[in-house]
Amino acid sequence: MYDWLNALPKAELHLHLEGTLEPELLFKLAERHGVALPWGDVEALRAAYNFGNLQEFLDLYYAGADVLRTEQDFYDLTWAYLQKCKEQNVIHTEPFFDPQTHTDRGIPFEVVVRGITQALSDGERQLGVTSGLILSFLRHLSEDAAQATLDQALPFRDHFVAVGLDSSEKGHPPSKFKRVFARARAEGFPAVAHAGEEGPPEYIWEALDQLGVVRIDHGVRAFEDERLMDRLVDQQIPLTVCPLSNTKLCVFDDMSQHTILKMLDRGLKVTVNSDDPAYFGGYVTENFMALHEGLGMTQAQAQRLAQNSLDARLVK
Ligand code: HPA
Ligand code: ZN
Repeated sequence: MYDWLNALPKAELHLHLEGTLEPELLFKLAERHGVALPWGDVEALRAAYNFGNLQEFLDLYYAGADVLRTEQDFYDLTWAYLQKCKEQNVIHTEPFFDPQTHTDRGIPFEVVVRGITQALSDGERQLGVTSGLILSFLRHLSEDAAQATLDQALPFRDHFVAVGLDSSEKGHPPSKFKRVFARARAEGFPAVAHAGEEGPPEYIWEALDQLGVVRIDHGVRAFEDERLMDRLVDQQIPLTVCPLSNTKLCVFDDMSQHTILKMLDRGLKVTVNSDDPAYFGGYVTENFMALHEGLGMTQAQAQRLAQNSLDARLVK
């Protein structure tokens, strides 16, 4: 089944580039820059990948990102991920990057964006993997900080295709970012947002009605709200679900509890994605495989999920 799932042509629509930083590359970059790490070796770092919730993961994820400093680092990070795409027949990807994680440490915006987009264009030419980069705002920071990030980004408008919203969900509702999303949309950028991962279904309503998003990242808690599910089905709003992320971050206790196949049967446009594969135990094929092993996903269901991902691309 693994080989069959691996060969299935698919798109990845929920992937944080900073979350593809494998421990081996993290140590290599730390050495490149003479950064002292709190973990003795790769195994010790991997052993720390035990999370009780989203925030516990984010604390480690932001700490790890500190080794990303030069254009070459961002290129190497992105290139390693694109090679995984090639291996797993991910023919198209729409990755996120979090500029504020880097600019707040003094790394210039252009260093980040140039390293990433150079790798994406090489990936298209050399590997045949097409892409569209999504600039994501950090929701634990203020809306003013997001506005300043958008100001920095607009001179590079050709380098990204959409805006998104990620980081700590609880206590940071989408409505907090209403104005900056309205401005980004007026500038011609479609919007997506993380909602309904740990946060309530109400955050999904807000993302749709107040941010004007065309896709919901995660969205698994929509399952608690029948009226919301009717809306998502009627409008065929894609949900970018991340099964291994959800079990690693205890959104579901176990893969056998995951609701993705029930949502697929309900007519929702659900897709399968890896979120932060270096931290959650696998890339897209491993996520499909976990659904097969934990939920008995059939080949026909996998085909529908993969087709949904191709249909839900922003860039076609
Ligand atoms: N949720 C919110 N923010 C994130 C995630 C996630 O799963 N991964 C990286 N940033
Ligand atoms: Zn995410």
